[in-house]
Amino acid sequence: MKNIDVCLTPDLLDLYPVEGKIVVIVDILRATSCMTAAFANEVKEIIPVSTVEECKALQQKGYLAAAERNGEKVEGFDFGNSPFSYMTETVKEKSIAMTTTNGTVAINKSKTADQVIIGSFLNKQAIIGYLVSQNKDVLVLCAGWKGRVNLEDTLFAGAVVDALQNEFECHHDSAMMAQVLYQNAGEDRLKFLSNCSHFKRLNRLNIQKDIDFCLMEDDKYDVIPVLKGGKLVALS
Ligand code: MLT
Repeated sequence: MKNIDVCLTPDLLDLYPVEGKIVVIVDILRATSCMTAAFANEVKEIIPVSTVEECKALQQKGYLAAAERNGEKVEGFDFGNSPFSYMTETVKEKSIAMTTTNGTVAINKSKTADQVIIGSFLNKQAIIGYLVSQNKDVLVLCAGWKGRVNLEDTLFAGAVVDALQNEFECHHDSAMMAQVLYQNAGEDRLKFLSNCSHFKRLNRLNIQKDIDFCLMEDDKYDVIPVLKGGKLVALS
């Protein structure tokens, strides 16, 4: 039987070898939700980089460039990390350089995996269907917050483990913890997450609209971003 595991923060990734696996990167608020919305809106490709300097260098080469730190847009870049920035004509068929506080770091730490795909509530069913169709073990990597575990990514990981319990087995407790969290979260996801740290951080920045979109639009898109040659493209 295939195995599924959950790594609750990239700082623990050394304990979870990625070779031979499909790694699902999760950064619900907001990086992977943005990436999913971007490809649903026909972005050509996204180059995920870990540093602002790398992103600036790509911007100087003519790429559209998105940079976010601590929830805010970094000065001098074309946009920050709102999914709504990826729903305009401006981004259609474009190549975009992107750096975020946690999400793009998690992607770059997973590059030696067999495959790296991008998950969010927006494409949850597409992700689950794809993982069932593949004959590979899976690691769900939660981006967390600066090395710390966060609730929203763990909740998504639990939803995936729960949905795949008949096709995959899990050997480690982090996957079971995530599943139990999901099973006990109840229907009102906004209420359940309203006290979590990044929810409050984004609220202080008056970014409620993004929170609602990233948390409440399940299966809005049937698209899976996948890493190919250091760039995210839509899985065909
Ligand atoms: C991140 O990468 O940490 C998040 O996506 C940050 C955010 O969008 O607020």
